[in-house]
Amino acid sequence: MALADTFGRPLRDLRISVTDRCNFRCVYCMPKEVFGRGYRFMDRKELLTFEEIERLTRAFVSVGVEKIRITGGEPLLRRDLERLVERLATIDALDLTLTTNGALLPQKAQALADAGLKRITVSLDSLDDTTFRAMNDVDFPVARVLDGIDAAAAAGLPVKVNAVVKRGQNDGELVDLARHFRGTGHTLRFIEFMDVGATNGWRLDDVVPAAEIVSTIDAVFPLEPVEAAYRGEVARRWRYRDGAGEIGVIASVTQPFCGDCTRARISAEGRLYTCLFAAAGHDLRALVRSEADDSQLGQAISAVWNRRTDRYSELRTKGTEALPKVEMSYIGG
Ligand code: GTP
Ligand code: 5AD
Ligand code: SF4
Ligand code: SF4
Repeated sequence: MALADTFGRPLRDLRISVTDRCNFRCVYCMPKEVFGRGYRFMDRKELLTFEEIERLTRAFVSVGVEKIRITGGEPLLRRDLERLVERLATIDALDLTLTTNGALLPQKAQALADAGLKRITVSLDSLDDTTFRAMNDVDFPVARVLDGIDAAAAAGLPVKVNAVVKRGQNDGELVDLARHFRGTGHTLRFIEFMDVGATNGWRLDDVVPAAEIVSTIDAVFPLEPVEAAYRGEVARRWRYRDGAGEIGVIASVTQPFCGDCTRARISAEGRLYTCLFAAAGHDLRALVRSEADDSQLGQAISAVWNRRTDRYSELRTKGTEALPKVEMSYIGG
């Protein structure tokens, strides 16, 4: 019988974090006050090796996974990442993609494409250099990320661009972002600011609802809805009525999508999490470093998934905000 959790949801997507480090300190993700000097990042020996990641990935594929997203932290900080892409690209019929902040893409894009990456998602919250530098909080210039996006496109990778929208920070720049990416073939997606982790000072007042994002763009560039590409798609899709492409909105606060959530995540040290908002994970590293064979790995994953009851975003209340949660930089976006 096909693997399903307690709500009948299959396991289709695996998001693999390859490092908990990042060269940015985005205000909504790794605020400097918390992730500055003194924060304890993982040691090298704690990280899964590329060989271990490949083995685990094959075990996940054997129980139904079809899509792999490499994340972090910032995944391009992991040395020789293209070697991992090369390994995962040998697994048949996998959608293989990566989420990056784009800073290192100018030098890495071609190698990633050559290694067999199928597509890429670049995070970019603003085109205004001052706003962008304030949001990444390491004074990183927006022009370098735009160069990274161009390098990915030049290497033949289909590109999506993710912008987290935070009230009072970049919500006045939605139309500028839309204008810039219209007609480029790159799909721009706006993400509602979420209460992931316990350190980003999230407040409901800082969330710009997806409906407001869509109506703001629609007032300047008229939009019409598009059917979801697949069951459980995270982003709701909209197309420009003049044919200049499409945008997406990821409304995990105002329109949660747990009902169709088919995503599992593994941290860089090999812990399995069945929800972005989970407090605890299940250790797979010990198993992968033991004598366990591939079928035992598959069984361990299935046993965790079978018991899964997560639907945090549907249950979100004043009370849930304060629950202990793992950081997004640890578990992977
Ligand atoms: P595609 O494969 O390109 O369709 O990607 P995707 O729609 O899965 O989106 P992506 O991986 O780029 O995720 C975009 C953002 O959506 C993430 O950075 C998160 O902020 C949010 N997100 C993704 N998956 C989940 C999820 O399972 N739960 C919640 N609450 N948010 C999610
Ligand atoms: N809310 C929404 N999205 C977030 N991301 C990181 N933190 C948050 C948050 N609090 C997104 C980033 C990036 C991906 C890795 O996760 O913008 O696109
Ligand atoms: Fe780094 Fe991405 Fe988090 Fe920003 S959102 S701090 S780029 S991991
Ligand atoms: Fe899936 Fe958890 Fe996100 Fe809901 S909150 S969509 S269960 S990861």
